[in-house]
Amino acid sequence: MMTGIQHLHGALRWVVLILMLLSIVKAFSGMSGGRTFDKGDYKRGLFTMISLHLQLVLGLVLYFGKGWSSMLGNADAMANTVMRFFSLEHMATMLIAVVLGTLGHSLSKRAEDDRTKFRRQAIWFTVSLVLILSSIPWPFRPGFEAYGWW
Ligand code: HEM
Ligand code: HEM
Repeated sequence: MMTGIQHLHGALRWVVLILMLLSIVKAFSGMSGGRTFDKGDYKRGLFTMISLHLQLVLGLVLYFGKGWSSMLGNADAMANTVMRFFSLEHMATMLIAVVLGTLGHSLSKRAEDDRTKFRRQAIWFTVSLVLILSSIPWPFRPGFEAYGWW
């Protein structure tokens, strides 16, 4: 069960990354081109946010279900790169990234004019994406060779 959820969480990273990149490119081009913020722009932002919420739920299940939560603050675990990463760094950074990504959609939704809608998506999604890219256990990171590309 946990293995299946971990595979799903690992594969969904690509959905998150692709939706994030699409939203960011479209938001910056919409802003500079003075385009109208249409239904497609709204839905792209919404699906980007939903992909983040899905990762949050799956991540929380893994975090508590696989025992990472109980390592938090344990000196031996904190001295181990992988244990510290999943019990603290990955969880905290991704949590912030999900909150910022959610703000990108909901603040854009509340904006009055099209340019502000695009700008809010562009800024919040970009900051969120940088945090996500920095906090994925890429297999080229020393110690994370066991984690694959999907
Ligand atoms: C945008 C959000 C997130 C992305 C893109 C992401 C990405 C990933 C990736 C790529 C893996 C490695 C999967 C594998 O190859 O086995 C992973 C593992 C994991 N993530 Fe996330 N994650 C996100 C959010 C979260 C959050 C919010 C939490 C916790 C609250 C979390 C907890 C975990 C845990 C516990 C593991 C499993 C490590 C293991 O048991 O070996 N993730 N994540
Ligand atoms: C721990 C789990 C979750 C938390 C804490 C959470 C939190 C939130 C928050 C705070 C908002 C309000 C955003 C706003 O200001 O508009 C929201 C909206 C939303 N969430 Fe989640 N969420 C979670 C899981 C999920 C899951 C699993 C899904 C679907 C797969 C989901 C889909 C949505 C949708 C569709 C909205 C409404 C977006 C809109 O129309 O503006 N969420 N969530």
